[in-house]
Amino acid sequence: MIKNRICIVGSNGMLGQRIIEFYSGLKNVELFACSFENESFISDVNYLQIDITLQKDVQKLIHQFYPDYIINAAAFTNVDKCESEKELSWKVNVTGVENLVKYGGACDAHLIHISTDYVFDGKNGPYSENDKPNPISSYGRSKLASENILLSNKIKSTIVRTNVLYGPAKHGRPDFVKWVVGSLSANKEIKIVTDQINNPTFLDDLVQGISKLIEFDKKGLYNIGGAEFLSRYDFTQRIADYFNLDKSLIKKIVTSDLNQPAPRPLKSGLINLKAETELGYKPHSIEESLLIISKELIF
Ligand SMILES: NC(=O)c1ccc[n+]([C@@H]2O[C@H](COP(=O)([O-])OP(=O)(O)OC[C@H]3O[C@@H](n4cnc5c(N)ncnc54)[C@H](OP(=O)(O)O)[C@@H]3O)[C@@H](O)[C@H]2O)c1
Repeated sequence: MIKNRICIVGSNGMLGQRIIEFYSGLKNVELFACSFENESFISDVNYLQIDITLQKDVQKLIHQFYPDYIINAAAFTNVDKCESEKELSWKVNVTGVENLVKYGGACDAHLIHISTDYVFDGKNGPYSENDKPNPISSYGRSKLASENILLSNKIKSTIVRTNVLYGPAKHGRPDFVKWVVGSLSANKEIKIVTDQINNPTFLDDLVQGISKLIEFDKKGLYNIGGAEFLSRYDFTQRIADYFNLDKSLIKKIVTSDLNQPAPRPLKSGLINLKAETELGYKPHSIEESLLIISKELIF
């Protein structure tokens, strides 16, 4: 049997963990994981500690594994810290991708790179693949730069834009659902913005979308977002309803009340039509995804 050699970069991250779990069970895939920490959060996987900003680390990864596909889920993802740590975040989000392109391209690997709706200004979303980016934060600018590196190189590549990831990642920082459930269960009041609108993306849907891109050998730009467009406040209400929690603890605010260092795209979200048409992508409803999460996570 010919096996696809798939390497997950950023395998300890929220998305990376879930991709590893998905591919671990498949016989026709040889899997290789790498991330920043000394050890893999997921056991029984071939793992290499790597800093993608260092050429020697990326070179070592390529020499050791010689992948057919590299899925890059590594990034500097703290949007506010990207404002105060511009140099480091650029190094991870842009130089790191340059390194993956340089050494991945040398062995003819296909690079699948995860990007974001933060490449847009959020004035007129939701966005299709044909809309013109206009990032308003350092994070968004660095992610757009990373996309441009792929587009301006000859490497086989696919850019996947997604937004507001949630799902049952078992290690690392809690996702939005876990944070809401944890806070409301502990009777803590939470303040949630009413003016950020997007389509939150269930991790397993994104993983399915990525696996279809590989199965159908798709290149170019694809949006892979959630099934429903709604405000963060309404998303929180749906979570509270599903888990039967006290909704009076959810207080309305607007983004400007938070005085965050990085501006957020407000009217955003990603139109999935291309993925639906070309890949048969069909994301779960919010309640369907919460059911899956509730079966897997201990809150
Ligand atoms: N989360 C969202 O809502 C969201 C929305 C839209 C797009 N995205 C994109 O989706 C992708 C995955 O996001 P995520 O939420 O899974 O991110 P995450 O949980 O922050 O995971 C990123 C992983 O990359 C690792 N990493 C950071 N710097 C590295 C380096 N120099 N070398 C190697 N590994 C490094 C991180 O390690 P440390 O934790 O030790 O730093 C972490 O394991 C990213 O490209 C992100 O931009 C995410």
